[in-house]
Amino acid sequence: MKILTKLKIGVLNDKGGVGKSAIVQQIALANDLLIIELDPYGNLSTRLDGVTAFEQGEKVVLPKKGGFVVDFGGFAHEQEDAIIASLDVLCVPFTATAEAVETTYNMIARIKHIDIPILFIANRVVKKDEKASISAFKLFSKLLANSANMGYIMESRTIQSAVNNAFNIIEVAKEKGIKGQPFKNMAGQLEQLFKTIKNTKNGEVLDV
Ligand SMILES: Nc1ncnc2c1ncn2[C@@H]1O[C@H](COP(=O)(O)OP(=O)(O)OP(=O)(O)O)[C@@H](O)[C@H]1O
Ligand SMILES: [Mg+2]
Repeated sequence: MKILTKLKIGVLNDKGGVGKSAIVQQIALANDLLIIELDPYGNLSTRLDGVTAFEQGEKVVLPKKGGFVVDFGGFAHEQEDAIIASLDVLCVPFTATAEAVETTYNMIARIKHIDIPILFIANRVVKKDEKASISAFKLFSKLLANSANMGYIMESRTIQSAVNNAFNIIEVAKEKGIKGQPFKNMAGQLEQLFKTIKNTKNGEVLDV
């Protein structure tokens, strides 16, 4: 079931290594969305089909028809405000480390004037980090006039494997045999995340 078709989704955080590109990949593959890569150091376009990469300084032209996912990379893009304003929903992955939380907070302060539904995604969560992720989310939310939502992705080697092999985790999880349970578990998390993205886009406020 593809629940995010035709949506315009951004994935943004100045902090490197929080999982932006891995999340962009799974959203795009599972929902038949094009990828717009705005990261001069990114390599999605060399690893996946359906990726348009723009260099720094190049005018970004977004597809007129159909949905897409923007990987903003780990830096402020000159056309960032205009691009964000044209999206349906913005995803902000973060990890609950002091450094990532500080960078994320500063980034949100920069874009909070833009009227866009925001979904924070606590990524690489191990059980003991859940409370820290919720605290960070509450801190981020305070900055925003509009309410925001939060989703989760747990720490899992399936993500690394998906990045290395261009796997669509939801598809791999359907295969029988050795790949098994870890992919099924992550596929369930991703499906839940996609629903949360859709609800956020629709302006629903969800309990964290
Ligand atoms: N939930 C997860 N569990 C395990 N590993 C993860 C998870 N999410 C991301 N990773 C791994 O963390 C690393 C960084 O992820 P990714 O490249 O997607 O981050 P990024 O935010 O795009 O970084 P950059 O800012 O450098 O572009 C990758 O090796 C990825 O496979
Ligand atoms: Mg990246």
